[in-house]
Amino acid sequence: MCGIVGYIGSQRAYDILIQGLKRLEYRGYDSAGVALVDCDGKMSVHKSHGKVANLENVAQAGNINGTLGIAHTRWATHGEPSDINAHPHVSQSGMIALVHNGTIENYAVLKKVLTDHGYEFKSETDTEVLVQLIEYIKLTSSCSLLDAVREALLQVEGAYAIAVVEQNDPDTMIVARKSSPLVIGVGDGETFIASDATPIVGYTDQVIYLKDNEIGVIKRNEPLQVLSLSDNKPSTISIQKLKLSLAQLEKGGYDTFMLKEIFEQPATLRDCLRGRIVDGCSRVTLSGVDLNKERFMKAERITLVACGTSWHAALIGKRLIQDFCKMPVEVEYASEFRYGNPVLNEKDIVISISQSGETADTLAAIQLAKEKGAFVYGICNVVGASIPRNTDSGTYIHVGPEIGVASTKAFTGQVTVLTLLALSVGQLRGAVDQETLSTVLSALSKMPETIEEALKVDNEIKTLSRVFAYAHNFLYLGRGYNYPTALEGALKLKEISYIHAEGYPAAEMKHGPIALIDHDMPSVVIAPNDSLYDKIISNVQQVKSRGGAVVAIVSKGNTSMSDIADYCIEIPNVPECLTPIVASIPLQLLAYYIAVNKGKDVDQPRNLAKSVTVE
Ligand code: AGP
Repeated sequence: MCGIVGYIGSQRAYDILIQGLKRLEYRGYDSAGVALVDCDGKMSVHKSHGKVANLENVAQAGNINGTLGIAHTRWATHGEPSDINAHPHVSQSGMIALVHNGTIENYAVLKKVLTDHGYEFKSETDTEVLVQLIEYIKLTSSCSLLDAVREALLQVEGAYAIAVVEQNDPDTMIVARKSSPLVIGVGDGETFIASDATPIVGYTDQVIYLKDNEIGVIKRNEPLQVLSLSDNKPSTISIQKLKLSLAQLEKGGYDTFMLKEIFEQPATLRDCLRGRIVDGCSRVTLSGVDLNKERFMKAERITLVACGTSWHAALIGKRLIQDFCKMPVEVEYASEFRYGNPVLNEKDIVISISQSGETADTLAAIQLAKEKGAFVYGICNVVGASIPRNTDSGTYIHVGPEIGVASTKAFTGQVTVLTLLALSVGQLRGAVDQETLSTVLSALSKMPETIEEALKVDNEIKTLSRVFAYAHNFLYLGRGYNYPTALEGALKLKEISYIHAEGYPAAEMKHGPIALIDHDMPSVVIAPNDSLYDKIISNVQQVKSRGGAVVAIVSKGNTSMSDIADYCIEIPNVPECLTPIVASIPLQLLAYYIAVNKGKDVDQPRNLAKSVTVE
């Protein structure tokens, strides 16, 4: 949610910043901007609403020189997407420029104070308040930019990652973070900063993840300094090696990142499973669980917290943990959990699930759970993100960077890890029998090949997607393990095609949503051969009797559904608990092709951002 990038070195900053913005565009894309400081101490600021390509058109008509610069791609929170509200924001004198990811909660109070001191505001943003406050402090206290930034941040409530430059100092950039991510890339005579590591890949693999309440002072040809915001004392700097490659950030011949990520799933699940199923598919090893056996043995309850697609994975996780660990499980939206006065103690385990590892609500839920004494476990994709750094232990899903805003490979990776985790804890607590364990593990170990098989419906779904050009509403139905799969299928469709879609437990449909069904309202029913198959058949009949078209996702070899449903899509046979992973493949493809047929930008759907770092 908002991407920031910065550069100081000997190359032209503009080129590096624009390329960085394009790599960060998945975080926000309603407007973009850049501020460049050249060696004569002149600052050029270019901004534009819309995508980075618009910014390039605007900037190239002006001065783009300078070897120091900061840039931003925005996801609007305060003020509509427009040229004026785009970052960087510049102080009243024009001397200081700032980019910001996050929200300044007390901006109205600060704005009033500054207005009383004669400051005028051009934009509707909270960010402009911060840059004006920095200038006000600098001028009234005659202090350095660093001291002014520090003092301003002490007055600010909210979340931020910021980068600040000053017109008359082409050798310095100040950065800081609190609850929003910021990575510093240390190169040879050059330094990069970014919201995540993607803009840095290809320049350096040496990175520093700034911690909350730290300020970084980046000076040309001088070692990086990191200070604690509270006492101004130097913090320990830990340089880490970045393991991202350029190929992972490219489309690899596909039209979109989303399609690439859907088709990557055999490979990503192979990476996710690697080394975790051992002893001839008879045992799971997850270091996060193995190193904390006592905690998992003594736990009386598990609560899963997440948002969006990760929350759907959590719902499947609940079923898995109940089935294999035989212990109480709750699932909460992180945003509700954090304000819901949850009753927790040291016998609770809270598992947070997040692709990005930066979701603000999930981070707040973790914080609360820790304060209440719970053991907090993280399931995350992005290595080194805030969630893995703030949890007691955890497991990476290792599916590689997910750039498409609609989550696909992360979802199947999350469900895979949740399956491993449930089996691992179940084996530890003696709650799962060896035969079940071996059957599920053996099917899970073949999941990459199974998904390859599942992807063969691509053409069939492409054709089917054209049938639904008429539909403005969809219902997605599933039961048991596949009720969350239905929610996820519906979310995928709404996110990228803007068609209204509702996921519902199939049997619950008759208590209300059935009133919506008519010839114009198709239903997608997830109906693999599982313990509830016979039940879902009658739910399909209820839809058909009211004239609704039905697309049924059925297990290979199914013969009974084709007499009832209008279209049947086959998925490979797997044990019941693994059907959500396999069934989500045709649902991802269906949403994808319906959106493409409607001419939508599937990688960057309107109003969305990849990682939601604001409340
Ligand atoms: C998924 O397609 C969404 N774009 C969104 O719901 C996402 O899953 C949610 O914002 C949570 O993100 P996280 O997994 O990075 O925490």
